[in-house]
Amino acid sequence: MKKKLGLHRPILNGKVNFPLCLAPMVGLTHVALREVVREYLPQDAYTIWPTEMLNSRRVPDENLEKTPETLRAPHETGLVPQILGNEEEPIAKSVKRLIEWGAEAIDINMGCPVQKALKHNYGVALMGDPAYAAEVVRMTVKNSTVPVSVKLRAVGSTKEFDELLTFVSGLRNSGAAWVCLHPRTAAQKRRGWADWEQIKQLHSAVDFPVIGNGDVQTVEDAVNMLTETGCDMAMAGRALAARPWMMWQLGEDLGFAAPVGKENLKAPRTPEEEGAEYGHCLLKLIQLCRQYFGEDLGMRKVRFYVRTTSVWLPFGNALTGVCAKAKNMDEMNEGVMKFFSVPHEMSARTDLRQ
Ligand SMILES: Cc1cc2nc3c(=O)[nH]c(=O)nc-3n(C[C@H](O)[C@H](O)[C@H](O)COP(=O)(O)O)c2cc1C
Repeated sequence: MKKKLGLHRPILNGKVNFPLCLAPMVGLTHVALREVVREYLPQDAYTIWPTEMLNSRRVPDENLEKTPETLRAPHETGLVPQILGNEEEPIAKSVKRLIEWGAEAIDINMGCPVQKALKHNYGVALMGDPAYAAEVVRMTVKNSTVPVSVKLRAVGSTKEFDELLTFVSGLRNSGAAWVCLHPRTAAQKRRGWADWEQIKQLHSAVDFPVIGNGDVQTVEDAVNMLTETGCDMAMAGRALAARPWMMWQLGEDLGFAAPVGKENLKAPRTPEEEGAEYGHCLLKLIQLCRQYFGEDLGMRKVRFYVRTTSVWLPFGNALTGVCAKAKNMDEMNEGVMKFFSVPHEMSARTDLRQ
């Protein structure tokens, strides 16, 4: 029997039945990584899948079938592309095109802290202007036939929670279907502790789904976030990219079927098993990046993946070096195979807080 965890409130009108999803990450949550992670999704599970953030001023004129950020595989379900924007016309055009492309919902980025986003008054800048943020949701919902969600950050400490609640209530009143809270402030960027207490407080104060994000490094962390905060779903970024089999581990823990092709196997759990699985994932990613992006861009994507995720490996720097030195995909493949021809242990946690 399946154990129920999270999903107290329906996401994608109840289609989603699995309480873990990948976070949107520029340069990482492309089709190749989504494919690698999806291989570990239990076969009876349905969850949501991000794109990288997409600028609504560019989407209307882009060839979505060819642009690296919007390449997709035909079998991909649950796609929720993320847009960045604040003007109705480009948003309306982007939403229309993304729905034709296959979006099952549209996510609005209100968490990006980079200077460019602040300059254009989108991303986390919208959190400084609650009325306008609500307006951006309203204009997106008005132009969308699928649900619209928002990914946001903490406003400040738990003491300033009322401010966050007012902000989220504005989004809710404008038609947002759910929110994802990454409870670090813009100033924290991705450092410092994610304040799960704010996820808990937000979930208990509103009547629509809340997804929690931040500081999930292992399947135990995902379970703890879901149980401690009561949120509907846990979202993991860097760690789920590094250990995509977290999907399988959680599926096993909750009584879901094994992923396709892994019916008689058990999810990797020990540091040695996880280290070996990282190697398999990386080889698969190299193959898919070459297939989707070609040699040059493919190599850049793999290098960025390794820089971000090898922090859980004791010899992560050496692996980064192997990928940096390779002159082409064949060399990269060979170097990675050689690296993993000896066992490597993967650590459960690393310090992402500096
Ligand atoms: C390389 C990188 C790129 C990111 N790009 C985005 C993005 O495009 N949109 C977004 O909402 N968040 C973005 N984030 C933030 C993540 O979605 C997530 O909120 C953050 O990494 C905390 O989750 P984690 O600790 O599980 O990684 C990015 C994070 C990283 C590491």
